Amino acid sequence: MAGAGPTAVLSSGKKMPLLGLGTWQSTSEQVINAVKIAIDAGYRHIDTAWVYGNEKDVGQAIKEKIAEGKIKREDVFVTTKLFSTFQRPEHVRDAMMQSLDGLGLDYVDLYLIHSPQGLKYGSNPFQHSGDVEDLFDEVDYIDTWKAMESLADEGLAKSIGVSNFNTQQLERLLQNCRIKPAVNQVELHPYLAQQQLVDFCKRNDILVTAYSGLGAPARPRRAQSGEEEPVLMEDPTVVEIGKKYGKSAAQVLIRYHLDRGVSVIPKSVTPSRIQANFDVMDFSLSKEDLTSLGQLDRKLRYLGANLFTTHKFFPF
Ligand SMILES: NC(=O)c1ccc[n+]([C@@H]2O[C@H](COP(=O)([O-])OP(=O)(O)OC[C@H]3O[C@@H](n4cnc5c(N)ncnc54)[C@H](OP(=O)(O)O)[C@@H]3O)[C@@H](O)[C@H]2O)c1
Repeated sequence: MAGAGPTAVLSSGKKMPLLGLGTWQSTSEQVINAVKIAIDAGYRHIDTAWVYGNEKDVGQAIKEKIAEGKIKREDVFVTTKLFSTFQRPEHVRDAMMQSLDGLGLDYVDLYLIHSPQGLKYGSNPFQHSGDVEDLFDEVDYIDTWKAMESLADEGLAKSIGVSNFNTQQLERLLQNCRIKPAVNQVELHPYLAQQQLVDFCKRNDILVTAYSGLGAPARPRRAQSGEEEPVLMEDPTVVEIGKKYGKSAAQVLIRYHLDRGVSVIPKSVTPSRIQANFDVMDFSLSKEDLTSLGQLDRKLRYLGANLFTTHKFFPF
């Protein structure tokens, strides 16, 4: 994975580039374009999910770059996620096959349980108008995990992991697994530093990946309600630190994650931003600047805090 930027060795023994491209909330055309530009810019890690509805686009862009001779399959680390409606063990392999089919790949590098909270098979939480609890499935993520382990045994997923798990859920999973989760992907940024969770993961050799690592300025809740929340990329501390290094707020935030030993997957469909977000290998933040960023923590969760709060596995 030459040129991929810093990498981590996962508990599975596989290498994962720490900086990847996020692909949530983009049109088909945008994703194809974004992934191709990202690969040209040096990214070797792409994050998608079945529920984003764009695995086909991610796969097409990768296929085009392989056909061009720019990369080989093994040069790019592809992550996708098992959606909550497939959480019963008997649906896990079918979900994996659907994702592989969409991506046009024989294997993914990392397959994550998208959330500890199972939802009823066949339900559609995005078009549900009744009682939200009607969507809930009692399935235990420990049982889901056993089916995930079988996918790893088969080589369909080179590494397996989780997303949106809290410390207690990880602890329980660690006590009941044969293969350890290699990654926990969670919302993480200076306003939601989650130091305890990050420390727990480090102690247990679980790599943390930060989502919404730039503060998710386009998140649906904000767009829909117009509610005012602090904008991380406009935070004076972040902006001032950027000035010192001649870097943008986004670049400072990306570097904050990398310097914390955390993986980060900033999403952009804007060519100049995709390129700029990768242009962070020529500096690192001083201890003092990392401390200043650490002091911005206000336990502000931009995403998901108000979803499914009564589910028995609600993690936040
Ligand atoms: N596991 C989970 O539950 C979960 C949840 C959420 C997200 N994710 C993953 O994490 C990825 C990243 O999180 P996210 O999409 O929520 O938020 P994010 O990466 O924090 O922010 C993305 C937004 O920032 C803008 N942006 C990107 N680079 C910028 C720059 N240099 N300057 C100014 N604005 C910039 C993008 O705009 P443009 O695109 O218009 O350039 C986009 O609106 C997702 O795409 C997805 O792959 C996972």
